[in-house]
Amino acid sequence: TDGQHRETDERQHTTGAPARRSQAWFGASGRGGMVYRSWMRNQGFGPGVFDGRPVIGIATSASELAPCNAHLTRVAEAVKRGVWQAGGFPLEFPTMATGETLMRPTAMLFRNLMAMEVEELIRANPLDGVVLLSGCDKTTPAMLMGAASVDLPALMVTGGPMLNGKYEGRDVGSGTAVWQFEEDLKTGRMTQEECFFAEGCMARSNGHCMTMGTASTMACVAEALGMQLPGSATWPAVDARRFETAQNAGNRIVEMVHEELRPSRILTRAAFENAIRVNAAIGGSTNAIIHLTALAGRTGVELAPEDFDALARDVPTLVNLMPSGSFLMEDFCYAGGLPAVLDELERGGLLHGGQLTVTGASIAENVAGATRTGTEVITGLDAPFQPAGSGTAVLRGNLCPDGAVIKQSAASPHLLTHRGPARVFDSPEAYHAVCDDPELDVDENTVLVIRNAGPKGYPGMPEVSNVPLPTKLLKAGVTDMVRVCDGRMSGTGYGTVVLHVSPEAATGGPLALVRDGDTVVLDVPRRMLRLEVTDEELERRRAAWRAPEPRHTSGYAWLYTQHVEGADRGADFGFLRGCRGHEVPRDSH
Ligand code: FES
Ligand code: MG
Repeated sequence: TDGQHRETDERQHTTGAPARRSQAWFGASGRGGMVYRSWMRNQGFGPGVFDGRPVIGIATSASELAPCNAHLTRVAEAVKRGVWQAGGFPLEFPTMATGETLMRPTAMLFRNLMAMEVEELIRANPLDGVVLLSGCDKTTPAMLMGAASVDLPALMVTGGPMLNGKYEGRDVGSGTAVWQFEEDLKTGRMTQEECFFAEGCMARSNGHCMTMGTASTMACVAEALGMQLPGSATWPAVDARRFETAQNAGNRIVEMVHEELRPSRILTRAAFENAIRVNAAIGGSTNAIIHLTALAGRTGVELAPEDFDALARDVPTLVNLMPSGSFLMEDFCYAGGLPAVLDELERGGLLHGGQLTVTGASIAENVAGATRTGTEVITGLDAPFQPAGSGTAVLRGNLCPDGAVIKQSAASPHLLTHRGPARVFDSPEAYHAVCDDPELDVDENTVLVIRNAGPKGYPGMPEVSNVPLPTKLLKAGVTDMVRVCDGRMSGTGYGTVVLHVSPEAATGGPLALVRDGDTVVLDVPRRMLRLEVTDEELERRRAAWRAPEPRHTSGYAWLYTQHVEGADRGADFGFLRGCRGHEVPRDSH
């Protein structure tokens, strides 16, 4: 009511200090205040918690349907300890969880929905600050995007990776081993029964994928942006120090509220540049490009596809992790974790060291004195695991006027310059239907074109671009082929795969105009992807092109196709760009 707003205003006038946001609810007198407090007290909170102390939301994306995040309820308990200890009032609330493994047609379809939910839940409730608990691939960017659009003090705690997979005496990485086991199964090196057994060996503890897939990448990226406490990205999910870090995060968020340390002070252009360079140094996932672009869109920082290429070009890959290398997150943690990488980059002049972080100190101050154990897992700039310029390249050309990306470290060097005839498939399913056919008209020079897998086309831009090689070529010993697609690739995937081709086929991008037998030229050193077809012929084909029938005419998937932007813009909804702030909404009663 108006009366209640007046009371809040009076409180501000009498104390001189701005009333805490949560006091618009819990500090109110009269009927309204009673409603806000009384129902909270049914949980057993005594009246003292409403005394104006910082109210901290703990946004928990735990779900048994998102196994990588299932343990976050326990992480939340540790955060709560820290919040109480520092004099705050913690309130845990669930958010949706976009689990990568179960959700169809792809978890990516729901990233923006989750971001929207996180944003609205924070703003609608009596919160002064928020701790974001994420894990699986999309949950980390979704939470950061939502929190950036509210701009209340926010601190992320990712759930940590699973312990190393162990199968037949060797380390197997989640995701990466799936592709390998599939090939072994197809070629008869492994039986179905052995596969069932191997499944359990690959996922033997709580946590997200322990390869440098998208989840580990985004955890490191969140730390590089300054949104996680130092070391937070790499503690295994079951390591006691993960819970210690979570308790510290609970402590710290209360201080951040006192300091009014908001995401807008942390997520600056320099922070994004740090994250892009760190992504190169860790051999991170191509998905980070899309998520960072989308997050930047929430903060007003303009990131172009070429920024990722230009900023990463002089950064060597320092971390030897699957899928590009041979180790896993547990090894990375024990070797020093991300702080050791940040420290190395900072000493090499490859980091904006003065960048502010959630600790209140700069990123360089956070990692000063970080220790690196050995040089096998985390290499030094003097002898890097992979030389500078071997990371993700951004391509242009008449096949991708708005850009495309290729992860060079996951590709075969001999295919980085290639010319070959296209064999076109209008969907991943169309390819899967024939890929086992011994008569399939392809050889190792063929360029497999898979289209209509972009944000609008699928919809949701799934991780389908690295289709398995045709079985007949696998059996003949072919290990890689050029694939071109408007979809994404799992961060754990590998192969010479051109991804994120923009504009996508479903919106009439040139990818829609490719025909069987057209010559495709890939020249990664020159950052080029071309179709050797004349402009006149492409125009003729464009005039005859008809957009595919929409798959959805109502519901969320329809909303998504109406508003999703291209991969080059981060595949966010146009109407979600920017920050909408944290003003206390109008009263509810
Ligand atoms: Fe959740 Fe890989 S499936 S992190
Ligand atoms: Mg993934």
